[in-house]
Amino acid sequence: MAKTVDHYVAEQNGVTIEISAPRADVVRIRAGKQSLPEDASWAVPPAVRSRRVPIEVTTSGDDTELRTAALVVTLDRATLAITIRDTQGRVVLADAPGTALDIANGGFRLRKAMPPDAHYFGLGDKTGSLDRRGGAFTLWNSDQFGFTPSTDPLYKSIPFVLGLDGTGHAFGLFMDNSWRSFFDFGKSERAAFSFGAEGGPVDYYVMAGPGPKDVVQDYAWLTGTPPLTPRWALGFQQSRWSYMSQTEAQGIADRLRADRIPADVLWLDIDYQDRNRPFTINTKSFPDLPGLVQKLKTQDMHLVVITDLHIADAPNQGYKPYDSGISADVFMKNPDGKPFVGTVWPGPALFPDFTQAPVRAWWGAQYRDFVGMGVAGFWNDMNEPAVFEPVTKTMPLDVVNMIDEPGFAARKTTQAEVHNLTGMLNSRATYEGVLKLAPDKRPFVMTRASFAGGQRYAATWTGDNSSSWAHLKLSVSQLVSLGLSGFAYAGDDIGGFAGDPPSPDLLTRWIEVGAFNPIFRDHYQKGKAEQEVWVHGKEQEDIRRRYIEERYRLMPYIYGLADENSRTGLPLMRPVFLDYPAVVSRGDRLGGTEDQFMLGGDLLIAPPTTWESPAPYRIILPGPGWYDYWTGLPLTGAATTETPALGHLPVFVRPGTILPRQPLVQSTVETPKGRLQLAIYPGADCQGGLYLDDGESFAYKSGAYLRQRISCDATSLSFGNRAGSFKPWWTGFDVVIHGWTGPAPKIRLDGRTVASTVDAAAHTVSFALPDIAHPARVAIGG
Ligand code: GLC
Repeated sequence: MAKTVDHYVAEQNGVTIEISAPRADVVRIRAGKQSLPEDASWAVPPAVRSRRVPIEVTTSGDDTELRTAALVVTLDRATLAITIRDTQGRVVLADAPGTALDIANGGFRLRKAMPPDAHYFGLGDKTGSLDRRGGAFTLWNSDQFGFTPSTDPLYKSIPFVLGLDGTGHAFGLFMDNSWRSFFDFGKSERAAFSFGAEGGPVDYYVMAGPGPKDVVQDYAWLTGTPPLTPRWALGFQQSRWSYMSQTEAQGIADRLRADRIPADVLWLDIDYQDRNRPFTINTKSFPDLPGLVQKLKTQDMHLVVITDLHIADAPNQGYKPYDSGISADVFMKNPDGKPFVGTVWPGPALFPDFTQAPVRAWWGAQYRDFVGMGVAGFWNDMNEPAVFEPVTKTMPLDVVNMIDEPGFAARKTTQAEVHNLTGMLNSRATYEGVLKLAPDKRPFVMTRASFAGGQRYAATWTGDNSSSWAHLKLSVSQLVSLGLSGFAYAGDDIGGFAGDPPSPDLLTRWIEVGAFNPIFRDHYQKGKAEQEVWVHGKEQEDIRRRYIEERYRLMPYIYGLADENSRTGLPLMRPVFLDYPAVVSRGDRLGGTEDQFMLGGDLLIAPPTTWESPAPYRIILPGPGWYDYWTGLPLTGAATTETPALGHLPVFVRPGTILPRQPLVQSTVETPKGRLQLAIYPGADCQGGLYLDDGESFAYKSGAYLRQRISCDATSLSFGNRAGSFKPWWTGFDVVIHGWTGPAPKIRLDGRTVASTVDAAAHTVSFALPDIAHPARVAIGG
């Protein structure tokens, strides 16, 4: 007889296990010695965790079967082994034979079967190949200046894995545990993948997909989507450690404008501060920061400033963050009860204890002056947390933190448990604080360290990479992996942070690739020769400018991806297999797609596979009929050969794309003038979308946006209803249909004929339409 429950508990050999289903296609498993762990989480909000769909329980022999509408979980009560199948009987995830759950001395290890055709992705910013199979990784947030393509661990801990089998079926696994943890994908044991942590709860979720896109959206459902970014953060950004004076910083903005290099953001690194003390200003070198902000504003530029978490240990010096922090008792303590002091940029420093909600509120209030003067965004660096002197590059594990957080039992804990949370909670405090100070503006926060769910508060970058071809290549898999792991807004230091300055070609190539990354920021280390767009002469600068301009032309598309991401969690920058899971069955290195990436579902970027020794290389596309973005011409088959040439980055367009492009602007603040281009690349499932709002406020949440679907087939272009009240800047549409070989077709809208022009050499037909805000069909030919 089946009975219906909302969770199921079993016990064996002193281990208690609980199985529940927050959704029919998501299973949550918790376990502990004797009793279950506390049901609390920094990553999964209470509203999500408290959901439980009904489970139908049937028992036969040692097996208990738990059924939701989408899944069947079989639990062997003798061994506590678990197999999760879909309702067709296909195994989603099964425990490996042998000991599948080993809980000992506070830590634990779980083992899952690893089918021969399975691939594994995720874990955030990890180095190595995108496919994690065969690798083993540690999750422990670490300051890794000058990391290499095999350094592990890195800055972030995101215990989320997307598994994909040879038939394109995917599953997700999220281990909600912040302790030092590990994932081993068949490195130590050929037929099993294992994961575990040095302490904390056994608490993990299995998402059943079935496609990779479903899994990414399931994970976003669990841990949240990034809030819609301010649009300016999608523009080109210039930074260095450091622009040393107000004059120098202003000079950079002036030069960007003088050279007509579109740009939106200038960054100030630690040297704008007084003795590297967060929330101060060195008024000798930056005599008028508010004035700089205002001047930049007239140039349509935003200013982002760094504010690291370490507060200088500076008693009796009138340093307010220290004084108010001591009196509010916000700093982490040594076991003896005295504040922990560690050396970082300001010298000896104290570290706020962000696991206390009141401490986060204190931190957020520190931004009052900067927000007041119009600083647009904030950069939270060194928040692993980094400490210079110890070999571990962080504080001792016994440093004490207090948990003071709604939904958690208040208790004392140590860095061993919360170290990996520091970056996320630091950036959360910043995001929430800035939002409170300016409730009508979308905050922009950039963090170096983070944890699962941290995408709700901040964008990120890959930290201190180096100026090398190997790092340019690595950036693609790191950013794709971050996107799969929730961090849709990720970038790397364009040109490389550390090492010798990039060669002219390396910087140019890096800018070409960066133009198609979510966050596009040139940043580099102190002591290095200049690395701005204009170095290396006119020829290089012209190429670089061309790519930056292309990004600005594509802004309607890119901003549309941001809108999609905020609603679904689908990343801007993606692996080819996300939209085309079948590519993995084509063979090695993800069917030859491992060096490629997609920007949204419509653009595929295929950088040279061997940057350093350029040689012709073959590009295999997901199917036939893709278009060359630069020429607009369709390819004949599903593959092409490219010969690397500086100034040319191969980009392809999905057949079936309607790509919105805008006239060139010098920043996202500048309103484009004239008409919106709709570039149509005919093919199956032909569609595109428009999304627009004011780019910076929350007015879109109360209707001040514009969203519209457009579709096409062989004989028509159809506009859907326009949702929202936001008025577009464009006066009409310039339509260009690619791959056109015939004579000029007859085009009609509302019974009127529309004139068109055929360009036989370019294989296009173009025509102008008025702005169309209501459902309408444009007949083409026929
Ligand atoms: C760290 C950051 C780097 C920054 C530097 C100085 O190394 O990763 O981006 O420039 O600190 O603040």
